[in-house]
Amino acid sequence: MKTQGAAVAAPLHWSDTWLAWRDRLLASPRFRRWAEGFPPARWIARRRAGQLFDLLAGFVYSQVLLACVRLGLFERLGRDGPQSLAALSAVLPLPEPALDRLLQAACALRLLERRRQGRYGLGPLGAPLVGNAGLAAMVEHHEALYRDLVDPLALLRAAPGQGAGGALSGFWPYARAADPAALDAQQVAGYSQLMASSVPWVAEQLLQAYPVHRHQRLLDVGGGEGALAACLARAVPGLQVQVFDLSEVARRAEARFAREGLAGRCSASGGNFLRDALPSGFDAISLVRVLHDHDDAAVLRLLAAVRVALPAGGRLLIAEPLADAPGAPAMGAAYFGLYLWAMGSGRARTVAQLRDLLERSGFTDVQARPTPMPLHSGVLVATTGVLATPSVNLN
Ligand SMILES: C[S@@+](CC[C@H](N)C(=O)[O-])C[C@H]1O[C@@H](n2cnc3c(N)ncnc32)[C@H](O)[C@@H]1O
Repeated sequence: MKTQGAAVAAPLHWSDTWLAWRDRLLASPRFRRWAEGFPPARWIARRRAGQLFDLLAGFVYSQVLLACVRLGLFERLGRDGPQSLAALSAVLPLPEPALDRLLQAACALRLLERRRQGRYGLGPLGAPLVGNAGLAAMVEHHEALYRDLVDPLALLRAAPGQGAGGALSGFWPYARAADPAALDAQQVAGYSQLMASSVPWVAEQLLQAYPVHRHQRLLDVGGGEGALAACLARAVPGLQVQVFDLSEVARRAEARFAREGLAGRCSASGGNFLRDALPSGFDAISLVRVLHDHDDAAVLRLLAAVRVALPAGGRLLIAEPLADAPGAPAMGAAYFGLYLWAMGSGRARTVAQLRDLLERSGFTDVQARPTPMPLHSGVLVATTGVLATPSVNLN
């Protein structure tokens, strides 16, 4: 007898039956023993076991990387070449047995490599970290995320938009602030520096995916401390770029433009893009690593403001990590899913989800442009048609 309110079971599809059989098989110790002993199935069994072990051990691997970054190992080996344990131990603040343990771990993870005469050199995964301040800063700031993730269920139980009030949401205060425009210089400094340090990777994707040189005046909304604006201005002679960001961040952008001799072509203005009208007079607007910070309601609000600010035929350029980035299946849902939850708002979106939001906001001709390194960023381009009544009220 059915109890009132109980869910009605959906009819079984053949795929449900097949998957239930597969699950029972993979969960069966007898099957596992058979697969391990049967040569054609053994490699699959080993690969699966290895993948599961990597999931279990992932945090340890991350901490080995963090320890190497904090010791400046990659920079040192990049500068001085391969070194012995004794030579490294003489200059690094770790006792020799502990350093030995770390070096072995880093070699196993291909961050370092054993070289002739017992020396250690850079490994294929460690070499790209040399001179890469952005990557080192990213590694370092994950400490805040991992602190929040110590109890993942506590983090997930926090109401959406609360980010558990943890370390990461403190690092990104605009995600939860009642009035982001009121954030002070100190509150925006950490995340602004972090984002600026990784801008070159994203700028490269954008410049390769889209001919920015077609434009004369570009407004970079949520443009941070102007690192992208500076990259674009240097890459596209004659391009005028304005950054629109929270007032204290815009101040940092102005300081950068003055410092880098770009004040003639780059400027910045301050405001809250969820409340204030955006400056007009631009033939393109960019949103770089901005939309994924926000939930759908805020994204629609922002897109409506962009729509109003652009002339008919104006271009919107979006660059950010996509949930369906080729070659990075876990990045969107697993990494950004939990990262942005801890931060307090937003999620990585698929091309289809972004297209839907763009079309609902009155953009047409939405195109996903391939980027050479989708892990760093995807790129979408959309065009404004004739302005119809905006579907989102900006007041
Ligand atoms: C993740 S950062 C991206 C910065 C830059 N576009 C980049 O890729 O390096 C998001 C930016 O949006 C800005 N932002 C967040 N909420 C905002 C708001 N309500 N109004 C204006 N800017 C905002 C932040 O200050 C920050 O600079």
